[in-house]
Formats: sequence, C-alpha cells, structure tokens
Amino acid sequence: MRQHDSDDFDLFDERPSRRRTRSEDDTPRARRTTRFDDEPAPARRGRLTEGERVRLAKLRDDAYTENQLPDGADRWSTWDDAEHGPLPRPDWVVTELAAVDIDLGVLKTGKEADVHLLRRGLPGTPGTLLAAKRYRSDEHKLFHRDAGYLEGRRMRRSREMRAIEHRTAFGRNLIAEQWAVAEFAALSRLWTLGAPVPYPVQRNGTELLLEFLGEDDGTAAPRLAQVRPEPAELKDLWFQATAALELLASEGLAHGDLSAYNLLVHRGRLVVIDLPQVVDVVANPGGVEFLARDVRNLAGWFHGRGLGEHVTNTGELLAELVSTAGIG
Ligand SMILES: Nc1ncnc2c1ncn2[C@@H]1O[C@H](COP(=O)(O)OP(=O)(O)OP(=O)(O)O)[C@@H](O)[C@H]1O
Ligand SMILES: [Mg+2]
Repeated sequence: MRQHDSDDFDLFDERPSRRRTRSEDDTPRARRTTRFDDEPAPARRGRLTEGERVRLAKLRDDAYTENQLPDGADRWSTWDDAEHGPLPRPDWVVTELAAVDIDLGVLKTGKEADVHLLRRGLPGTPGTLLAAKRYRSDEHKLFHRDAGYLEGRRMRRSREMRAIEHRTAFGRNLIAEQWAVAEFAALSRLWTLGAPVPYPVQRNGTELLLEFLGEDDGTAAPRLAQVRPEPAELKDLWFQATAALELLASEGLAHGDLSAYNLLVHRGRLVVIDLPQVVDVVANPGGVEFLARDVRNLAGWFHGRGLGEHVTNTGELLAELVSTAGIG
C-alpha cells in the first residue's frame, strides 16, 4: 500500500502516477520517509541501522509492486493519453485505466506501417482484440506519398516545417504522425456516416488502435485479393464495394488508394481499410481522376475474377460517383 495518498498524483498532472518507473519512484519516496523517521541519531550517520534497511527495502518492494506490469502484459493501456474514436462508442471498447495491452505479434508489415495484433483488457479478463497500426518513419517509405498529399495540412509552425523539409528524425516522425492523424480523422468521419470501416478506437502519436476484423482466435480477415469467391458472392462483393464508393463520394471523397489489398472480407462483409490518403475530390483539381483510378483498380480485380463488364459497367459507375460528389 502507498504511504501517502498524495503520492498518487503528479504535481502538474492529476492522473495516477502508476506508470512511473521504479527508479524514478522509489528514491524520493524513501528519502521523504526518512525525514519523518524519529529513530535516534546513529541511524542517519554512516551505515543504516538494520531496522531502517528493512523498512527501506519494504518501501522499494511496495513501489515496485505497484508500478510493475502484471505478468505477460507489454504496457499499461494507452487510452488515457490518446485521441478517442467517435461516439457512440461500441460497448466492447476497453476504457479502464487499469487495463493492460498485450502484443500478440505482427499481423502484417506494410509499406508505411506495421500492423500488430493487440489484446487490451483488465488483468485476468479476456479483454478485446485490436489491430494496432503503427506508422514507421523511415524516410524512403513515406517520401512518395507525403509530397503532394500533405501540402496544406496543418503544418503551421516553421520549426516543424523545416524539420520535415530536411527530413530530420524529428521531421520524419512528424510526417508519420500526420499520416496517423489523417487516417484516424478519415476513419472517424466514415464510421460516423455508417461506412464499412473498422471502428477507430484511439490514436496516440504514430499508432492507431482499430477494431480487429477477424476471429476470436486472432485470425485476421483475409484481404479481398486473397479470396476466391463463387460467382454469386463475387457479384455481392462488387455491389458492396460500389456502395462504399458511393458513400465516400456523397461526402466528396475518394479512397485514393483503393485496391483488393485495402479491402478486407470479414464474414461476408466487405470492409474498407488503409485510408490516410483519402482525397477531397471537390477541393482537389485532380478529383475526377482519383475517382476514376479507384474505380479502375477495383473493377480490374473483379474482371480478373470473372465478373462481366456488363455487371461492373465502370463508365456509368464513374459518372454516378462524379455526380454524387457534385463535381460533374
Ligand atoms: N482492422 C484490421 N483488422 C484486421 N487486419 C487488419 C486491420 N487493419 C489492417 N489489417 C491488416 O494489415 C494489413 C496492412 O494494413 P494497411 O493496409 O492499413 O497498412 P499499409 O501499411 O498501407 O499496408 P500495405 O502497404 O500492405 O497496404 C492489411 O492488409 C490487413 O491484412
Ligand atoms: Mg494497405
């Protein structure tokens, strides 16, 4: 148990201080306690008395126990420090500050980010599986994307601008964080509209935590590119995809990087992922071309799987999207 209630709070921050490490935590507390000690003088000079040594050791053990992560956990829940997803919040989202995160391994390493499987829950409970998408900051991985897309996003402070221009480690991290911010905002907006996207649980720095699309045993839903649907299912998936495109267009948006790799098939339902580069087709002078490219990439895959062009009818689809977006 803690000695003083006030030890539970930082001076400038009212959050519980359980995340402080042992080395930060135990020395000052031990010193504070010796101040209140009323043992006779010999204890203070030279070597410690046996009684004092035992008490200090106990204090350290207590501090250690309180700060130590439960067995198997990789970190405390980062919910407290993160930007949160839109309301109403699904009931499976774990918001308890005493919850812990367990990293269950890499789901996929991608071009710009690594996606890990994470379990978040109170110790001793099954918790909830999440997909943790962590943007990397290696320069070459981001370069092709950040040039045009990031221009005009909120990058006012010139120190940050310079760091980005010079691709310092700090600048590269800022770029990665901007991608995380952009994807979280897009997911939040689309989820609120009812689009088939994973619920965005939180964003913290360069990491997004998303609803895990998959099975309880941790098997992730396959990408569209990995499935071989029967003709009826293929057609159904096509119409799910075009419905999602229509919904984006009604908000003046194109995915911007749509392909059979950025669509997951979860229990028969098509889910759109990987949205950091979502394009505002109204403001962007190349808006129509972004819509056309998404349609082309998507239809190309479906044609390759045997869906007839009379079904996909891409000319008509594009015309519809352009008019829905109000740019035709
Ligand atoms: N919410 C999720 N649930 C389950 N799996 C996911 C989820 N989000 C991403 N994944 C898996 O991680 C992969 C990479 O995710 P995403 O496409 O968002 O990142 P990326 O860095 O752009 O990857 P890539 O370069 O492969 O496109 C996906 O193809 C999918 O297999
Ligand atoms: Mg992707």
